[in-house]
Amino acid sequence: MSASVTTAPFEQIPTVRRNDDAMYDLPAWMARMAQEHGPIFRVAVRPDFQPVYLVGPEANRFVLHTGREHFSHDRGWSPIIGPQFGHGILNMDGEEHARHRKMMNPAFTIAYMARYLPIMNEVIAARTADWTARGEVDLYEETRRITFDVAAAALTGLATGPEVDRLRELFLTLLHLDFDPQRETWEQVYGRLRAAREELHTLLLRHITARRAAPTDDLLGFMVAARDEEGRPLSDEQLLAHVDILLIAGHETSTTMSAWLLYLLAVHPEYLARVHAELDGLPGDHTAPITLEQVKAMRVLGNAMSEAGRLHPPVGSGPRGVVKEFTFGGYTVPAGAQVRYSIAGAHWLPDVFPDPERFDPDRFAPPREEDKRTPYALIPFGGGPRICIGVNFAQVEIKALAAHVLRRYTLEPVAGQRIAQIYPGIVGAPLGGIRVRVAPRGA
Ligand code: HEM
Repeated sequence: MSASVTTAPFEQIPTVRRNDDAMYDLPAWMARMAQEHGPIFRVAVRPDFQPVYLVGPEANRFVLHTGREHFSHDRGWSPIIGPQFGHGILNMDGEEHARHRKMMNPAFTIAYMARYLPIMNEVIAARTADWTARGEVDLYEETRRITFDVAAAALTGLATGPEVDRLRELFLTLLHLDFDPQRETWEQVYGRLRAAREELHTLLLRHITARRAAPTDDLLGFMVAARDEEGRPLSDEQLLAHVDILLIAGHETSTTMSAWLLYLLAVHPEYLARVHAELDGLPGDHTAPITLEQVKAMRVLGNAMSEAGRLHPPVGSGPRGVVKEFTFGGYTVPAGAQVRYSIAGAHWLPDVFPDPERFDPDRFAPPREEDKRTPYALIPFGGGPRICIGVNFAQVEIKALAAHVLRRYTLEPVAGQRIAQIYPGIVGAPLGGIRVRVAPRGA
């Protein structure tokens, strides 16, 4: 935004108090705050922590693209993930980030997805095979097992089994702090987290050492083989941080988006019928594993996936530390401030997405194409040069999973549950689960 207009100082940016809605109803709350106060306001999380929120397509364009030199990912993300997961690609800046992203990029091109899809199909088929026998499943729990197995196998070459199950449990301990003050002191909680981190890293280091001895052509293999300008390999610490972030980012978010997609389709039978018609009309063998061509052709399902990501974005906001003063929306924000671009809030602005609370995947189909009409409006994967590196991976996996399940099963949500996306921090999830009854399709 232009600096020539009169600007107000940082202290005058409106400050709003965080209430329960910010955790249990984040997208609607953020959008409401933006409508009441404008696209820039501070949220009083604690007396000593009041980050500046920037909300809306213009704000997203500024943070993610045109004004990105004002922001540091390291200073935004490291206070949140650094203590547990170190310094990986998500929280690097500048030259260092560019070098590491270049090293990983080849493993995330759409062409490379043809290599991952058979792994995805295999895990999906194995993990869903007993759903009808079990009769009732929690979609959130099931999709986590699937996406974690897929990330472990595709990115690091670890095969599904007890070791990968243990890895998943360890990440879960570190990600979703389960603290009951009646049972534990903070000392004990920290001890538990330390032990989980140590076990996780011992386990992963064993595999890193094995890869050094016998390199493979998966992403971990690329990283082990990579050399910097002076011919030095990545250190154990760097490799661990990358693997940590890739396994977390590679499953936590896809878990949430797939669980919501399946649930939203289960409660919108008319749209589900159109997805079934699309699946039934796909060229090729319908009993064989899904192909990349079929995945690409699933537009009706793809729009439902976009709508799941708009309504309940797995990542609620993107944190940044300000490294160079900037002006936005009439206010000046100095270096040293904490900023978040709000994914959740941007997705629920009614002037961009009319009736934002409504599940309406056709908003992404011609002629409406609400996302294309306003660039940087739909940003579940972030945007600009630092857009999610796993966007292709996630979209192929989620569509393959949904198509496999919808072809075989009908899902009926169990009555009486409260299903909600909860945001204890940056990342949201249906933490109470989404229980559904499963029956064979056509039964
Ligand atoms: C539905 C699934 C996913 C969602 C919603 C999602 C969301 C996001 C978002 C919003 C960002 C940008 C954060 C920022 O601007 O600070 C991001 C970055 C990232 N994501 Fe994803 N993601 C998903 C799946 C994946 C997968 C499958 C992988 C890996 C296999 C992955 C790896 C990463 C990495 C490494 C970054 C950092 C990229 C960089 O800064 O260069 N994500 N993701």
